[in-house]
Amino acid sequence: MDTADKLLIRALSGETLETPPVWMMRQAGRYLPEYRETRAKAGDFLKLCYNPELATEVTLQPIRRYGFDAAILFADILLIPQALGADLWFVTGEGPRLSTITSKADFNKLSDADDVHETLSPIYQTVRNLREALPPETALIGFAGAPWTVATYMIAGRGTPDQAPALALMNEKPAVFDALIELITEATIQYLVEQIKAGAEVVKIFDSWAGVLSGFQFAKYATRPTARIVSVLREEYPHVKIIGFPRGTSNEGILNYTKTTEIDAVAIGADVDADWAVENLQSITCVQGNLDQSLLVSGGEKLVSETKRIKAAFAGGPHIFNLGHGITPDADPDNVSRMVDALRS
Ligand code: CP3
Repeated sequence: MDTADKLLIRALSGETLETPPVWMMRQAGRYLPEYRETRAKAGDFLKLCYNPELATEVTLQPIRRYGFDAAILFADILLIPQALGADLWFVTGEGPRLSTITSKADFNKLSDADDVHETLSPIYQTVRNLREALPPETALIGFAGAPWTVATYMIAGRGTPDQAPALALMNEKPAVFDALIELITEATIQYLVEQIKAGAEVVKIFDSWAGVLSGFQFAKYATRPTARIVSVLREEYPHVKIIGFPRGTSNEGILNYTKTTEIDAVAIGADVDADWAVENLQSITCVQGNLDQSLLVSGGEKLVSETKRIKAAFAGGPHIFNLGHGITPDADPDNVSRMVDALRS
């Protein structure tokens, strides 16, 4: 099937469909027994990311089980810091750890944006494998973290609840902070270009920590770098579709971001009111979202009724059905089937 005919691409091109295409953030993950088995075979999470054969396998697992309309490349937003020379490891049950950036000297140890490909070349191989292996109707999504979100991990060396270390560097050493944002922006462009060349039909830019930025900071460090990434990709690849996810920011912020970046779809969390999104976002672009991911843990009638409510709310315009954030490891795989059935029935 041609890329343009796939349901996900049709929605991203502005078409209103009777049943929206569906996929889930973190659809390849620990809630699936077959994922846990493959990860054990790989040794650990990072080895799995850098093993094209096994990364291809875990990307395909949720497609086989649920017949989603899109597959998302199995990798992580923190591979870019690693490719730039940061140390990266994952502590089981806690999350990522990296070397920190608190000074100009730390920043100077990082490599140039165009040096990332040696580390990341297995990821491009996974993309090529996936274009071979996916069912013809399934679209392939590549991705990267947005510069601000990636910077928060590089500066703090871990996830933090409030991103205080990154905000402190922004305020206390703005030249170092700005240089870091610029380096990540350029490396991300290089990384996404290679994913597109390898066969990604859509790319998604995850700004998971956009919500802690104030209005001015959000415009400068979330919207502006993303707009640059979009404009460079578009210039080289006019047909590539781009989804942005400015998680947790104000409605006004989401709207400005959507207009300024000129993305093809904006992903919204479960906290965003559907009526507001229909009126203000869906009138200018495709909207992706926004089922509360905790319903895949609790299940029941509420899962079915919420799935149908969201489908109905967005039925008048272009919509991609998804969760508000990633599926959690305690979700019941059978609840995902119930969600897909409720959506497609
Ligand atoms: O299925 C998919 O969505 C594709 C693969 C994917 C992963 N991470 C795999 C993963 C994608 C798109 C991501 C994005 C990502 N990674 C984000 C942005 C989206 C979001 O959730 O807000 C962020 C912030 C990260 C960084 C990251 N990776 C953290 C904080 C953690 C630890 C927390 C956790 O859930 O364990 C990870 C690990 C990670 N990335 C896992 C997976 C499947 C779990 C690792 C494991 O198997 O142990």
